[in-house]
Amino acid sequence: MRALFIGGTGFISTAVSRMAIAEGFELYLLNRGLRPVQLPGAHSLTADVHREEDARAALQGLEFDVVVDWIAFTPDDIDRAVALFRGRTKQYVFISSASVYQKPPAHYLITESTPLHNPYWEYAQNKIACEQRSSQAYRDDGFPVTIVRPSMTYDTNLPIAVGGWGTYTLADRLERGLPIIVHGDGSSLWVVTHADDFGRGLLGLLGNERAVGQAFHITSDEVLTWNQIYQTIADALGVEANIVHIPSDFIASVAPHLSGSLLGDKTWSVVFDNSKIKTFVPGFEATIPFREGIRRTMAWFAADASRRCVDTRADAEMDHILEAYAAAFG
Ligand SMILES: NC(=O)c1ccc[n+]([C@@H]2O[C@H](COP(=O)([O-])OP(=O)(O)OC[C@H]3O[C@@H](n4cnc5c(N)ncnc54)[C@H](OP(=O)(O)O)[C@@H]3O)[C@@H](O)[C@H]2O)c1
Repeated sequence: MRALFIGGTGFISTAVSRMAIAEGFELYLLNRGLRPVQLPGAHSLTADVHREEDARAALQGLEFDVVVDWIAFTPDDIDRAVALFRGRTKQYVFISSASVYQKPPAHYLITESTPLHNPYWEYAQNKIACEQRSSQAYRDDGFPVTIVRPSMTYDTNLPIAVGGWGTYTLADRLERGLPIIVHGDGSSLWVVTHADDFGRGLLGLLGNERAVGQAFHITSDEVLTWNQIYQTIADALGVEANIVHIPSDFIASVAPHLSGSLLGDKTWSVVFDNSKIKTFVPGFEATIPFREGIRRTMAWFAADASRRCVDTRADAEMDHILEAYAAAFG
């Protein structure tokens, strides 16, 4: 099967690219080539996908069984993808987000039929608009879209709500014995999924004709509290966690850019019913418990100091939120 991943060297997609190559896919990656990721066996196409003519030139003469678009965030991105790939692929997989599901949730158990409504987070609203645009293209003329909604997925990133997404900042604070922030009282329920588990579900949908026109989430069945998530990260580092619980709305008032992600997502308990992906991909089940997966993540960071990037702005912001909370309630 010939596949194109738009992106393909990111936090989730790198693991999935490796798995696709191991499974014998003829894999093309279209990205800007900015990341130091080695994926032997993949064909690299270099272009900024936002520049449609550059992307078209890079794709010249190529047709695909499936295109996975890892980096569509606005309806314009979908329009460009439809223009680029109509008639050139048998399946187009749009990577959406589980943050599209109704917030606050009217029912804790999320299925693919849960309404899409998120008045708090622009990112989720844009993903909903992308889903609508791509589904419209399917309805209008059969553009072969499959929508896939990851929930929080980790591999070379820490699955956290506050603490410098995509960096080592939170782990660095834990190692230095500094306090970390857990939103609310840490007892709300959350699901984190290892990229290898997500990838096995996703690969099962590629080239799967029955999946065209459908939407899926793919998550672990392991349900944790946020306290357990942060505690397990600290355990993997072999340090004590100094947790300070702060209400989400207080955090959002001090750091407004965290408002959408907290109040439109991580504040609410969510549990996913994965029956649909298990029906379409027989045998699929997430098998990597967080305790094991996060050890792999920490081993990846430990192997190379250059991976342990600290976001000094996010670090200072955590101090700022903690100081503001202590001043108000200390
Ligand atoms: N991780 C999660 O917990 C989570 C949860 C829900 C949804 N998602 C969704 O999953 C997707 C993230 O996937 P990921 O892990 O691959 O993302 P990522 O870590 O953001 O990686 C981005 C990828 O896209 C490439 N790229 C970025 N800008 C580009 C451009 N203008 N033109 C061409 N290539 C470009 C990057 O390579 P270069 O920089 O070299 O171009 C890289 O390969 C997003 O759609 C996100 O909304 C993630």
